Order: sequence, then structure tokens, then C-alpha cells
Amino acid sequence: MNINILAIESSCDETSASIIINGKVQNNIVATQSIHENYGGVVPELASRAHQQNIIPVVNEALKDANIAKSNLSAIAFTQGPGLLGALLIGTSFAKSMALALGIPVIAVNHMKAHILAHFIESPSPKFPFLCLTVSGGHTQIVKVESAIKMEVIGTTKDDAVGEAFDKCAKIIGFPYPGGPLIDQHAKSGDPNRFKFPNTEMPGLFYSFSGIKTAFLYFVRDEMKKDDQFIEKNRNDLCASIQKTLVDMLFSKLKKASKNTGINQIAIAGGVSANSELRNRLDQIKDKLNWDVFIPSFQYCTDNAGMIAMAAHFQYEAGDFSTYHAVPQPRMQI
Ligand code: KG4
Ligand code: ZN
Repeated sequence: MNINILAIESSCDETSASIIINGKVQNNIVATQSIHENYGGVVPELASRAHQQNIIPVVNEALKDANIAKSNLSAIAFTQGPGLLGALLIGTSFAKSMALALGIPVIAVNHMKAHILAHFIESPSPKFPFLCLTVSGGHTQIVKVESAIKMEVIGTTKDDAVGEAFDKCAKIIGFPYPGGPLIDQHAKSGDPNRFKFPNTEMPGLFYSFSGIKTAFLYFVRDEMKKDDQFIEKNRNDLCASIQKTLVDMLFSKLKKASKNTGINQIAIAGGVSANSELRNRLDQIKDKLNWDVFIPSFQYCTDNAGMIAMAAHFQYEAGDFSTYHAVPQPRMQI
């Protein structure tokens, strides 16, 4: 008998549904909430309302596209956390209600583990154990992945996430939210060595991104006092330079983690893994460092239900089901 799972992702500002059949992701339907662009960041209340509007159409589209009747579903998976409480509540409540109506089990998925397990949607996949640099708007972690279930965070940020640093720097130079992809796009025509920004090196495998964001803010503010066209004239160089600094910071700890653990299977995951400088740099240094590098395709880097479906399949096989009493865990850890 086929194992057909419907997976739902609603942790932040994407409402997404996916169908996985016998471990093969069939589709990945994503409704992006553009409303937040006007506010310089995700507005939790608006995210919840948009999830509420989008969830039924998105789920119906995933079922229709995969040609799966509701009555043929084996389980329904949902993102339990981490994420915004009100946003998680929509996916959690929807999944539990639908599963209750159909009399099938629910599977509660950890969003950060799912970002990592996105590597098993397409081949080639990393071999266990591997290191995963998980970089998103809310997290910056180096995770030692022993199996689909057993993972350990060996490095993390003391303050902001790297995606947050990208978005905040983008906002300083006038980009709408989320500015990370716009920095990436403009950096392609800029000089990465034009501007230097001081950053404090943290001990061990710790990151800190709040200092660099402040240094960027002060630098731009001071230059604008001298020439109020400074941002306009130098936008591409500013993007390339801040992007290079952030990527350098990510690499310095990743190299250290690989050296400390002796693991050379290296994966990246999360929204910032869509960054082209990060991807190019990995490509350039992999031979020198003897790394096997794994990068998910774009659609599985940012928030998506395909990765929730993949994680749910592993949990289904391990018999790791949740109950109808499950509640969102906004601060869920790996
Ligand atoms: O994983 P994700 O979609 O959502 C969270 O769980 O946070 O990550 C979103 C983050 C945002 O900060 C966004 O600016 C960043 O990923 N991002 C990028 C790029 N694409 C998305 N940052 C830099 N370059 C990109 N190409
Ligand atoms: Zn995410």
C-alpha cells in the first residue's frame, strides 16, 4: 500500500502544501505573502490572516496536482515550530482538524530539521554523518547530522541570524523586505572589495551578526552626511561588499567545524542558502578542502512544504506520530 502524506508549512510568511508518496515529493505549492514588503519585515498578525486565506486553496491544489483523493491520505504533517505562534496555529489547527475528520494520524515536524532533510528530496544526498550550515531569517546554525532523526547543534549565533543581517542591511540601503535576495541580485554588478566592514570574531563555533549590521549602518549614515547620493551611486558595491563580509563570516566557522569534527560531507540549508555568493564560494573551495558539497535546489532552500513532507516521511517510517493534542512550539529546538 502506498504511503501518501500531505504536509503543511505555515511557520512564517509562506503558506505551502506538498504531497509525498512513498518518500518521493510530488509537488511543492507555495503561496508567498507579498503584503509584508510594505512593512520592512513580517507582521505576525498579517501573516496569520494570510495563512488563513491561503491554506485551503494551497492544500486543494497540492492534492489535485498529485491526483490524490483525501480519502487516500495516510497521514497529515504540519510544522510545529520554530516560527510565529499565530502562523503556526493555522497550519497546526488545519492539519489536526483534517486528520480528525479523515481518521488518520498527524505528524509534527521541526522546521529546522526539515530544512536539513530537504537534502533528501533530490539526489545526490549527503551521507551520514554530515555537517549542515542552516542559515535562515531566524537561525544560523552548524548542525552535526547523525541520521534523519538524530541531529546536534554544534555552532550557533549569539544574536541576529545571518538572514536578519542581510535583511537589515538591505533595509538601510532602501530595499523592501525581504532584502536578502535583492542584495544578492545587485551584488552581481558590484565590487566585493570596495568597502570593508569591521566585525568581531567570536570564540569557538559561535557567530555574531549584530555588530556588522551596526557597522554597516554607521558607515552608510556617515557617508550620506557627506553626499546624500552615496547609496544611489554605490548601491551595487555596498551589496557586494556586505555580502562578501557575511559569507566570509559563515565560512570561517564552517571550516573550523569541519576541522574539529573531521567531517567533510558539507551541506547548506535554509533561505540564505539560495545566496549565489555562498553557493559559488562553496563550489570554489570544495576541492581545496576535500569537501563533498550539497546544495538544495532553490525551491527547497526557502520555506516550503516539500521539506516538511520529506521529514514527515522519515518520521512515518520511524513510527514518530504526534497526537491531536499537539500545539505549536514557537521556540522548538533541534
Ligand atoms: O528559511 P527562510 O525562507 O525563512 C525562515 O525560516 O527564516 O529564510 C528567509 C531568509 C530571509 O532573511 C531572506 O532575506 C534570506 O533568507 N534569503 C537570502 C536569499 N534568499 C533568501 N539571503 C541572501 N541571498 C539570497 N539569495
Ligand atoms: Zn525556514
